[in-house]
Amino acid sequence: MTFSEKTILVTGGAGFIGSHTVVQLLNEGFRVSIIDNLDNSVTEAVDRVRDLVGPKRSQNLEFHLGDLRNKEDLEKLFSQTQFDAVIHFAGLKAVGESVANPRRYFDNNLIGTINLYEVMAKYECKKMVFSSSATVYGQPEKIPCVEDFELKAMNPYGRTKLFLEEIARDIQKAEPDWKIILLRYFNPVGAHESGRIGEDPKGIPNNLMPFIQQVAVGRLPELNVYGHDYPTKDGSAVRDYIHVMDLADGHIAALRKLFTKEDIGCTAYNLGTGCGTSVLEMVAAFEKASGKKIPAKLCPRRAGDATAVYASTEKAERELGWKAKYGIAEMCRDQWNWASKNPWGYQSKP
Ligand code: NAD
Ligand code: WQD
Repeated sequence: MTFSEKTILVTGGAGFIGSHTVVQLLNEGFRVSIIDNLDNSVTEAVDRVRDLVGPKRSQNLEFHLGDLRNKEDLEKLFSQTQFDAVIHFAGLKAVGESVANPRRYFDNNLIGTINLYEVMAKYECKKMVFSSSATVYGQPEKIPCVEDFELKAMNPYGRTKLFLEEIARDIQKAEPDWKIILLRYFNPVGAHESGRIGEDPKGIPNNLMPFIQQVAVGRLPELNVYGHDYPTKDGSAVRDYIHVMDLADGHIAALRKLFTKEDIGCTAYNLGTGCGTSVLEMVAAFEKASGKKIPAKLCPRRAGDATAVYASTEKAERELGWKAKYGIAEMCRDQWNWASKNPWGYQSKP
C-alpha cells in the first residue's frame, strides 16, 4: 500500500479546519471517514467537499454522524474499518464559552479524546495527529514561540489542550508503539480558493477574521478593535495568521512522517507562518482585498489577550518538510471570496 492509499479517520471533519483538510486528503488519494456530531457544523460542508473533489475521489469519503463521548459510536466505526491513522479535530473551541461552562469543555474535549484513545488502542490503530493550539503557550514571555517553551493555560479551553497534550505524552511513554504528532495551530483564517467551503461560526463570531468578514457583508455594523495601547508597531495586538489550506497541508506532512519514520514518539510542531500581523494591519489587508470599508472602533483590551504571539517555524520546516506558502494578502483574498459568495455561510439568508 502506498502512503496515500491509507485509510484515515478524521474526527470533526465537517468543521472549519477538518473540511479543508479532508479536501486535501482526498486529493492526495487517501480514503477518509469522518465522524462528527454536527455540534458546530453542517452536512452541507461535507456535500461541498464531495463537489470539490469530484465524483471519483468522493467515493473514498464516508460521513458518520456520531459523538466521541459515546464510545459505542467509535466502536461501531472501528469494528467496520481498519484505520491506519486518526486526525483528531473534534472539540469545542470558544474561549469565552469555556470560562462560562468549563464542565461542557472538560466533558466534550477530555472525555471524547480519552474514549478515542481507548478504542484506537483496542483496534491497534496507534497513529494520531492531534489538533493542539498556540493557546498552550499562554502569554509567552518571549517570541517567537518555540516548541520546547514552558506550557501554560489561560482558560478552561486552553486547559483542555494542555491536558490533552500531557495525556498524549503519558500514553506514548507508557506504550511506545504509539506515534503521536501534536500540531499547535496559530490563528487559522482564509478559505478554500473555490470559495465553496470556509468558516461559518454560529452566533456572533469570537475571532477576528470571521468578525471582519461579517462586517464586510453587512451582517454586523462595525469591528471593535480590542486594544490600541499595546507596545506594538501600531498599538494593536499581533498574531500569526495562517491560511487554512496551508494548515491542511501541514496535516498531510504530519501523516507522511507518521507513516515513514520510526522513532517519532510524541512530538509537537507549531503550524504558523512565523510572521506577526497586527489587528489594524489585518483590517487594512481585508479592506484592500475586498474593496469594502470596515468601520472600526478602538476599544479597551480584551481580558486575557497577549500582546504579541507568533510561531517559530523551524522545527516544522526541518522535521515535517512543511512551510506555509500563503501570506496575509492571499488569506484575505480567499476569506473574501468565501464571504462574498456565501454571506450567510452555509445557510441561505434567514
Ligand atoms: P470547528 O468547530 O469548526 O470543528 C470542530 C468539529 O468537531 C465540528 O464540526 C464539531 O461539530 C465537531 N465536534 C465537536 N465535538 C464533537 C464530539 N464530541 N464528537 C464528534 N464531533 C464533535 O473547529 P475548527 O476551527 O475546525 O477546529 C478544529 C480543532 O482545531 C479543534 O480541536 C480546535 O480546538 C483546534 N484549533 C482551532 C483553532 C481555530 O482558531 N480555529 C486554533 C487552534 C486549534
Ligand atoms: C485575534 C486578535 C483580539 C476579535 C484565539 C484563541 C486561541 C486559538 C485561536 C483555538 C486579538 C483581536 C478579535 C474582535 C479584535 N483558538 N480582536 N476584535 O485570541 O489570538 O486566539 O483563536 O485554539 O486559543 O484564544 O484570536 O481571532 O480571537 O483574536 O480586536 O472582534 O484580534 O483582541 O488581539 P486569539 P482572535
